[in-house]
Amino acid sequence: MTRRRFPRWHEVRPYLRTGPIRRSSIDRRLASAATIPDLRSVARRHVPRAVFDYVDGAAESETSLRRSRDAFARVEFVPRVLQDVSNVDPSTSILGRRAALPIVFAPTGFTRLMHQAGEPAVARVAERMGIPYALSTLGTTSPEDVAAAAPGADRWFQLYLWNDREAALDLVRRARAAGFTTLVLTVDTPVAGARLRDIHNGFTIPPTLSVRTFVDMTLHPGWWFDKLTTEPLRFAVFSETGGTVADLIDRVFDPTITIADFAWLREAWDGPLVIKGIQTVEDARAVVDAGADALVISNHGGRQLDRAPTPLEQLPGIVDAVGDRAEVYLDGGVLNGADVVAAVAMGARAVLVGRAYLYGLMAGGERGVERAGAILTKELTRTMQLLGARCIDDLDTSRARLRDR
Ligand SMILES: Cc1cc2nc3c(=O)[nH]c(=O)nc-3n(C[C@H](O)[C@H](O)[C@H](O)COP(=O)(O)O)c2cc1C
Repeated sequence: MTRRRFPRWHEVRPYLRTGPIRRSSIDRRLASAATIPDLRSVARRHVPRAVFDYVDGAAESETSLRRSRDAFARVEFVPRVLQDVSNVDPSTSILGRRAALPIVFAPTGFTRLMHQAGEPAVARVAERMGIPYALSTLGTTSPEDVAAAAPGADRWFQLYLWNDREAALDLVRRARAAGFTTLVLTVDTPVAGARLRDIHNGFTIPPTLSVRTFVDMTLHPGWWFDKLTTEPLRFAVFSETGGTVADLIDRVFDPTITIADFAWLREAWDGPLVIKGIQTVEDARAVVDAGADALVISNHGGRQLDRAPTPLEQLPGIVDAVGDRAEVYLDGGVLNGADVVAAVAMGARAVLVGRAYLYGLMAGGERGVERAGAILTKELTRTMQLLGARCIDDLDTSRARLRDR
């Protein structure tokens, strides 16, 4: 029979507090998120439904995005054991500069919609993490203000070519003058993809006031308070606003763009030029022949063409075709540091992430982006250790393969 006794105080005390006292509710909610999907759940509770869906959603049946994620689930790693992985170095070189991780924060439009801290917060976190950050043409902070916020970040500028070529060129010059190192031309957006969640939500930029908006204010007072008490949300480089995102893209972007425009841009920009939105071997060859320094295999996170090629599946063929002449990056559906490790092992120089940091931004502003970065870093490092890879060069094609299912 068990003999019972009263516990002593020093035996009980360790159970009473399991961690440091968190100062604010933001810290508490961020600390409770152990993964990017956890951050996504926090984000979902804290911003209006239409804002969350704008970030989370993709085009039409969302099959492109789902397949991108499924492809990462089909990865099988090939670990080596007994490799002394006490110190792993995940740093790499991206376009001739050292990056602390093979990760780039992708360009995302309207970032201040997710949280008023917006692009400067994302750029500052990228600066602290030692990775590049790409500012979108559809940004809600100007290139000059992003430069002032994160002077030490490797800043890239993402360009959409619109019909006023002179204005586009002016913007490129502004980015250059503000110290942006790299130009990213996005080529998968001749017209807007059909993002059905936005249509069903009646989502417009800026959000319109309706009965539904007022109801939402009571559910997400923090988001609305931030919106109404900080600088109004507007595009930093376009005066053209109003209507749905798709309306804006259709009004401003140019479906006549061809490879000839790319040659013209190559002349105008003397720094590294990255083409984003390549989905076939043929197009990869064409843009590298035309002078691209790097390309991003991307279907825009599934937000443009639905049922598009899956980037991870396209990666080996494209690396084979152009990998000795240009750096190859990939994006779409990356939600875990292990996804980054898989893509690098399969030939990518780096991986762009969009939603992963935006979930963090919606969940907790700059600290949320910081948390997203910390989660990805930890997962990436741990995966390298478990794989027995001490540095990025150890991640070659022998370390990851795609299973059929
Ligand atoms: C809310 C949102 C806005 C975006 N805006 C842009 C943009 O302005 N320019 C661009 O080239 N890509 C844009 N993208 C695409 C991202 O750069 C990137 O290709 C995509 O997010 C990668 O997929 P992931 O979000 O699953 O990581 C956007 C993506 C999201 C989620």
